[in-house]
Amino acid sequence: MLKIMIIEDEKDHFELMEHAIKKEFPDAMVELCETADLCLERLEAGGMDIIIADYLLAGMTGLQLLEELKKRKIEVPVIMVTGHGDEGLAVKAMKSGAFDYVVKSGSFFELIPEIVRKAIHDRELKAKMRRTEEEKKRLQAQFLHAQKMEAVGTLAGGIAHDFNNLLQTIKGFTQILLSNCSADDPGHAGLKQIEHAAERAGELTRQLLTFSRKVKIEPRPIDINDHVKAIKELSRTLTGMIEIELLLADDLKTVNADPGQMEQVLMNLTINARDAMPEGGRLIIKTENATLDHEYCRTHLGAVPGEYVLLTVSDTGHGMDKETVERIFEPFYTTKVAGKGAGLGLSTVYGIVKGHDGYIMCCSKPGKGATFEIYLPALKQEREGRSSP
Ligand SMILES: Nc1ncnc2c1ncn2[C@@H]1O[C@H](COP(=O)(O)OP(=O)(O)O)[C@@H](O)[C@H]1O
Ligand SMILES: [Mg+2]
Repeated sequence: MLKIMIIEDEKDHFELMEHAIKKEFPDAMVELCETADLCLERLEAGGMDIIIADYLLAGMTGLQLLEELKKRKIEVPVIMVTGHGDEGLAVKAMKSGAFDYVVKSGSFFELIPEIVRKAIHDRELKAKMRRTEEEKKRLQAQFLHAQKMEAVGTLAGGIAHDFNNLLQTIKGFTQILLSNCSADDPGHAGLKQIEHAAERAGELTRQLLTFSRKVKIEPRPIDINDHVKAIKELSRTLTGMIEIELLLADDLKTVNADPGQMEQVLMNLTINARDAMPEGGRLIIKTENATLDHEYCRTHLGAVPGEYVLLTVSDTGHGMDKETVERIFEPFYTTKVAGKGAGLGLSTVYGIVKGHDGYIMCCSKPGKGATFEIYLPALKQEREGRSSP
């Protein structure tokens, strides 16, 4: 509904303007404000589409009103009304950002609706331009992010690959040495330490290789619901005071995925949720069938239209600010104290989802929990009652 505020101290003039506007815009809400102060107060509340203001307001000139609006970042088009012979003031008002002006003269009331129409049109155009601009910025940011992830992935993958080969040598020779010395040998404990450190280093490189999709995946048709249920069982002891709620679609489509990797995804997200809720809270794991359409994919770089199984993991934890959300999938990015987090949990999840031609995104706000959405391509359903040849 169109909302117009008229700032005018002459009641008759207000009524005539209201009448002229209502004739053209019967659904419009026209509100009278007798002083500029009242008007500003009212505008702060938002929801106004157009202001029609007499230049000579009680307690303030039209120019001062325009300045106040600018200061308060209220972006509503102002149509300035000036008296006959005051066209100079009108020009000043235009220079200060008024949308248009109208002189109180013979055809004044007939002119108002036309100016209102122009203002509506202008407002819509500006809103559209703003939306396009925002969309462009968002896509640019998404593009940069994807590029960065790709570069980090290549780098990490390269290092991890070479590193892994070196680790194999370390592990191999450690084992040979261990097999040649008994447990009470002075060197035995040291060799055990080397073996243990090599195991841990191996685990880190494995996560990095998963992130950069250098680990071979072994997909087979699976029902994600089974794995969600299994993870709930597994994480019972892990999550302590956290209540886990499952909302599983019973008509869920099958996905072609590596079961081990899917459990890894669920596990990493569950552990993060637990860490985000040290005083307890709720973890909700939801599954459903979903379609990604062209409109969604146009605004979400990396998403491909099609049929998906959507896995949503959300918690009621401390959440994240915008800067954190932008970086969570980078390897080694962590906000946790040293020793608590290596910053590889979500990069592994990211690599796994990408490796399955899926799409992942995260929504979070400080104090408002976090939600991770994972789209995995659904397998085409085999038609029921297929007859054998
Ligand atoms: N559910 C969540 N709620 C709030 N913050 C989260 C959540 N999941 C991840 N994060 C943030 O993302 C960062 C990276 O997560 P991750 O890659 O798993 O590494 P780590 O858990 O080792 O820090 C975390 O340090 C944390 O800041
Ligand atoms: Mg983690």
